[in-house]
Amino acid sequence: MSKRTFKIWRGDKEGGEFKTYETEVSTGMVVLDVLHKIQSDSANDLALRWNCKAGKCGSCSMEINGKPRLSCMTRMNIFGPDETITVQPLKTFPVIKDLVCDVSWNYAQNKRIAKFKPPQPRPEKGYVMYQEDVDRVQEFRKCIECYLCQDTCHVIRDRDEGDVKDGKTSSSTGFVGPRFMIRLASLEMHPLDTDDRIPEIKKEFGSGMCNITRCCTEVCPEHIGITDNGIIPLKERVVDRYYDPVAIIGRKLFGIRKRT
Ligand code: SF4
Ligand code: SF4
Ligand code: FES
Repeated sequence: MSKRTFKIWRGDKEGGEFKTYETEVSTGMVVLDVLHKIQSDSANDLALRWNCKAGKCGSCSMEINGKPRLSCMTRMNIFGPDETITVQPLKTFPVIKDLVCDVSWNYAQNKRIAKFKPPQPRPEKGYVMYQEDVDRVQEFRKCIECYLCQDTCHVIRDRDEGDVKDGKTSSSTGFVGPRFMIRLASLEMHPLDTDDRIPEIKKEFGSGMCNITRCCTEVCPEHIGITDNGIIPLKERVVDRYYDPVAIIGRKLFGIRKRT
C-alpha cells in the first residue's frame, strides 16, 4: 500500500475546479479502481462512467495526466511513486458532471453514414468474399467507440461549437473524425458494398481536413491503424477520383460504381 495524490476535476457545465484527494493504493490497481475507492471513501457524489472494466465497452474514457485514456486499462504502476495524477473529462465534448461528458455529437456523425449496401438481389451462390478482403476490414471492426481518437483530434477539438445542437450536427461539411473515417473505410473497402462513397468522403465527411498527424492512432486502445490503414487509403481514393488525370480518362472510358 502507498499513499497517492489525485487531482480530480469536479463540476458541471456551469464550471468547476480540480479537487485534491489522497488515498491508499495497493499493487495491481488501475486508475478506475482508485476512482471507485475515492468515490466510496470521500467523494460519494463523484460522477464517472464505466461498465466492463475490461477495456471493451469504451465507457471509461477520460484524460489522465493530460492524455486521453481508458481509466480501466491505465495501471497505477506506470506513474512515478510521488507523481500527482490528474484526472479530467474528455476536453472535446461538453461536460455533464465531473468525469462524465456528453458524447452524443459522435452518434450524430454515425447517423450521417449510409449503411452497408450489398448487391441486390442476393446472388445464387450467396455473398462470397476472399479472406484477404475480410482481413483488411476486420481491423476496423475492433473499434469499441471509446472516442479517445475523437477527443485527441485537433480538427474535432477546434470544430465550430455551432456544429452540434441537441446532439445533432447542423453542418454537412464538418470533418466526421477518425472513428468515423475508419467506419467509412470499412464500408468503402468492403468488396460487397455497392455504394460509391468517395464523393461524400471528400465533401460531406471532410477527408481533406485530416492532416495525418497520427495523434488518433497513438491513443487508440485497440491499436487500430486509423491513419495508415484507414484515412490515408481513403485520401488516396479521393485523389485518384478527382485529381489523377489517367484515372479520370479511364473512368470516362470504362465508368465507375454508382450509388444504388
Ligand atoms: S491523423 Fe487526422 S484524424 Fe487523426 S488526429 Fe490527426 S487530423 Fe485527426
Ligand atoms: S478507433 Fe480506437 S480510439 Fe477511436 S473510438 Fe475506436 S477504439 Fe476508440
Ligand atoms: S470500463 Fe469498459 S472500457 Fe473501461
